[in-house]
Amino acid sequence: MNALTLILLMFWYILPAYAANGLAVVFGRGSRLNIPLDLGKNFIDGRRIFGAGKTLRGFLGGILAGTLVGFAQTISGNTIGIFMLRFSPVTLQFILMLHVLGFQSLISLIILNSLLLSPFYFALLGYPLTIKEVIIPSPVKGFLLSMGALVGDLAGSFIKRRLKMERGKPAPGLDQLDFVIGAILLSSIFYVPPIEILVTALLLTPAVHLTANITGYALNLKKEPW
Ligand code: CTP
Ligand code: MG
Repeated sequence: MNALTLILLMFWYILPAYAANGLAVVFGRGSRLNIPLDLGKNFIDGRRIFGAGKTLRGFLGGILAGTLVGFAQTISGNTIGIFMLRFSPVTLQFILMLHVLGFQSLISLIILNSLLLSPFYFALLGYPLTIKEVIIPSPVKGFLLSMGALVGDLAGSFIKRRLKMERGKPAPGLDQLDFVIGAILLSSIFYVPPIEILVTALLLTPAVHLTANITGYALNLKKEPW
């Protein structure tokens, strides 16, 4: 399997977790009904259990957003991609050909983009069929990845507080990986992807996370650029 395929598959697999973790920041803003998940309480060491950065709104909003992404993947992958592939491969080739020749229309753009998010694209890349569980998503997987991401993020904050770190202080490694590890672990009750996908996720997420956070900081969504 080439590197591009591996990276695309990894993103496709982990996308709901990224969405949940990233959008928790957006949902966590604002003060209405925004209760901290630890209810402001301290642990036995006298420090906050999770801290003020982990709110109910962020948690529920993130899970909802990630689950919706899982739904969107399912619709685009299962419905549009497979449908096109099974029932209209000739139409598809025709549209692709016109597109390549420069005859681009709104319809061909919509179709091509939905295909880009579908198993069809991976099939084109020669991805083995044994792997189709990765590329055929499901709402359940989306929910478990999202929930796991936010529980992992919570566990990360719990560890940071036990290490006497103030809310928002950087914990390199932990900040970037807590949510992916949580997502992989929880969703593993439903589906475990091949090891190379997991390794790619662990290797690439820190860079993706950092880029996303610097962007969030620049857009004034986040208080710290990490
Ligand atoms: N957030 C939230 N609820 C969550 C997770 C995140 O409201 N369950 C929001 C908070 O506004 C938080 C921001 O997203 O400040 C950034 O999240 P993160 O970097 O994970 O939290 P920190 O504030 O840095 O806190 P910690 O030191 O515990 O990581
Ligand atoms: Mg942080």
